[in-house]
Amino acid sequence: MSGFSPSPEKERVQDLLWVPTIRDFFKRPLTSGPLRVLCLPGRRCRFLMKLLDRGYTTLEHVTCIERDPIEELLIRGALASYSPSSPVPVDVVADSLYNVLTAGAERAISRQYQVIDLDIYGRLEPEGDVFRSLVAAVDVQTGARVSEWVLLLTVEAASARQSVLESLVKNEAALMTPYGPVVNRRLTTAQATDNSGPGRLVRYAACVAACVVETAFPNFTPKLVRAPIFYRGSDVYDRPAARALMGAFPFWLSRPPRPIAAMGPAARAALLDPAFDSCIRKAIQLKVALAEHDSIAISRNVTALPLD
Ligand SMILES: C[S@@+](CC[C@H](N)C(=O)[O-])C[C@H]1O[C@@H](n2cnc3c(N)ncnc32)[C@H](O)[C@@H]1O
Repeated sequence: MSGFSPSPEKERVQDLLWVPTIRDFFKRPLTSGPLRVLCLPGRRCRFLMKLLDRGYTTLEHVTCIERDPIEELLIRGALASYSPSSPVPVDVVADSLYNVLTAGAERAISRQYQVIDLDIYGRLEPEGDVFRSLVAAVDVQTGARVSEWVLLLTVEAASARQSVLESLVKNEAALMTPYGPVVNRRLTTAQATDNSGPGRLVRYAACVAACVVETAFPNFTPKLVRAPIFYRGSDVYDRPAARALMGAFPFWLSRPPRPIAAMGPAARAALLDPAFDSCIRKAIQLKVALAEHDSIAISRNVTALPLD
């Protein structure tokens, strides 16, 4: 599956969500020096270059993951202009993200990443690569004893290999099975029962937030720092007409104070509930990015997204 190139919408979403999230993290008083970043930059490294250009990180502080050997070479080539020396002093690992975070966990832990850009192909589902990589990333960060870090999570809300709406219906139902009780309690009756495409997308976004809160617990408390944006993503097999529906979620995770004098399920709920409340509230404010002629419009108008 080579030949990845980001859609114009994706690049806009990176400018609007990812870059400001990293900028805010970089500028917080606790940050000192270039950020330590784990990413899957893709052959053009566009987003990574934005971070390098703005001085938020340097090549020496970045690990690039790419499982496709040709794409890996292209990444080295793309980054060559950022370094006078050869080979380029950047850590490029030719493996799957999951392996890097599990079999290679010791090394990943030692890097003490402050930013993990989890942008791999796939849906968020129990046995899938995205969920397993998310769990592994939390484990690595727990082992690294990082107190605060940024998780940039990209998920495929609907595939373009079938009808986008049919795929969204399936994916929303699959996430509502585990997260329905947590999510529905935080929605209005209208939101919980709206079975239109946009209605399902709202619940899907809420489930993604719930999943991250639950997966990070009890080691980190996530905050969804900006409303997620959904957009038509990269071409599938280089077919511009077939673009998956993607969602971008910027989280900031911090280590909660160790709870004392709290025991049992009620204590667990008391710890989890505020994070569910805040992340789900933010998730359902989702926005959409739509290409219009030469520009990309960002709006709250989910009904404008072509979902059939
Ligand atoms: C979605 S693209 C990343 C794009 C990049 N973040 C950007 O914004 O332009 C994913 C890239 O990572 C590779 N990739 C996808 N899933 C992967 C995985 N599970 N492990 C390692 N590499 C993966 C693909 O070959 C592709 O080059």
